[in-house]
Amino acid sequence: MVSTPVNKPWAGRFSAPTDAFVEAFTASVGFDYRLAYHDIRGSIAHARMLMQVGVLTAAEFSAIEQGLIEIRTEIDQGTFQWETRLEDVHMNIEARLTERIGMAGKKLHTGRSRNDQVATDVRLWLRDEIDTILAELTRLQEALLILAEREADTIMPGFTHLQIAQPITFGHHMLAWFEMLQRDRGRLHDCQVRLNVLPLGAAALAGTSYPIDRAYTAQLLGFAAVAENSLDAVSDRDFVIEFTACAALLMTHLSRFSEELVLWASPAFDFVDIPDAFCTGSSIMPQKKNPDVPELVRGKTGRVNGHLVALLTLMKAQPLAYNKDNQEDKEPLFDTADTVRGSLRVYADMMPVLRVKGDHLREAARQGFATATDLADYLVRRGIPFRDAHEAVGRAVRLGLETKRDLAQLSLEELRGFSSVIEDDVYEVLTLEGSVAARDHFGGTAPRQVRAAIARARERLLHNAMANAT
Ligand code: ARG
Repeated sequence: MVSTPVNKPWAGRFSAPTDAFVEAFTASVGFDYRLAYHDIRGSIAHARMLMQVGVLTAAEFSAIEQGLIEIRTEIDQGTFQWETRLEDVHMNIEARLTERIGMAGKKLHTGRSRNDQVATDVRLWLRDEIDTILAELTRLQEALLILAEREADTIMPGFTHLQIAQPITFGHHMLAWFEMLQRDRGRLHDCQVRLNVLPLGAAALAGTSYPIDRAYTAQLLGFAAVAENSLDAVSDRDFVIEFTACAALLMTHLSRFSEELVLWASPAFDFVDIPDAFCTGSSIMPQKKNPDVPELVRGKTGRVNGHLVALLTLMKAQPLAYNKDNQEDKEPLFDTADTVRGSLRVYADMMPVLRVKGDHLREAARQGFATATDLADYLVRRGIPFRDAHEAVGRAVRLGLETKRDLAQLSLEELRGFSSVIEDDVYEVLTLEGSVAARDHFGGTAPRQVRAAIARARERLLHNAMANAT
């Protein structure tokens, strides 16, 4: 970033130069340069529309278009000189355009303000960004489905209160994560649909006296509609907040997955092995292998939640229409998008190589008396009221605890001591496989149901992809 004594585009009204620190304090180019490609795209569409309605000549439009394309190349190649003195991405590009093509460059801003320009740029940028995030999300969901399929029969303890509750299958657990992400997908998609509206034409706040054709600009930029109200178009950043809210929920889901992976990877659980490529060691304790990736994703959730609060607070007291406060939306927005995209990417890369320790999972379910509910249900089927069944099984569990055996290891005689209705078919319900296979309904954990759910999930992903392509 250099500071040469360039004239500011708005310098006409001013008799004294900007204080040097104020200049640095008010500038946004240090971060909003990230909008450059979308700014150029918006400017070319705006200029084409101006030509269409006769405000610019064909020659002027060609010069503008050509100049902007060349500026894009300069940015690509890293030769573009960003100037803090020119405040933001918009004025940097416009000043460079005029430098390159002269008079026609000065006409680009006709019928436009930076207020509707920046609102347009951010919408264009975010629309693309959501596409990229959705692609990473799809990659992670596909990885979860592959893992669910591979581990559809793998028994693990299901938890409530982090206490062993009932046996479930690992595949079923992965499908729970899939569902959370599928709702995140829906939210991001809704957000994208709602933001896809053109602000250009609102100018500073009241519209413009030029005979503009906003529908044409919208069509050129792929916006589904034109903003109805010029004051609203330049001033609200609800779409930034909405995206960040979707991102905060998505990160909250990833954070919950992370918490589980951190626990599961701990030697105290020993349910999974996270490959070395996704872990780091300790500089002092030679035995350590730390699950940094899930820990960091869990930690990064905090900053996205923070951005959401920052953006809500930024917006809450703004009078209509545009206020400079809105310049503060960029850094939280960019960081939110970067954080979500990065977190999804690392998860999508990590899940396919996660090693699931089926024997340990099974053993944990066995030791946790996970089939106690099945025994109670068995007694109920033989006419015992549920409360009495619950009590009888509780006593059986106590014997198991005292003698360090699971329910299936108690003899028929011992079991009959708790309830005389028990026959030797009881062992069918006491096995872990019998327990999960019995939960054989839509949404249940039986391997058969898990396989059916995976097939449906694949269909739904395909359907999303087709809907997005149209
Ligand atoms: N950098 C500004 C922003 O991000 C661009 C719009 C500035 N408009 C103005 N009238 N000062 O919001």
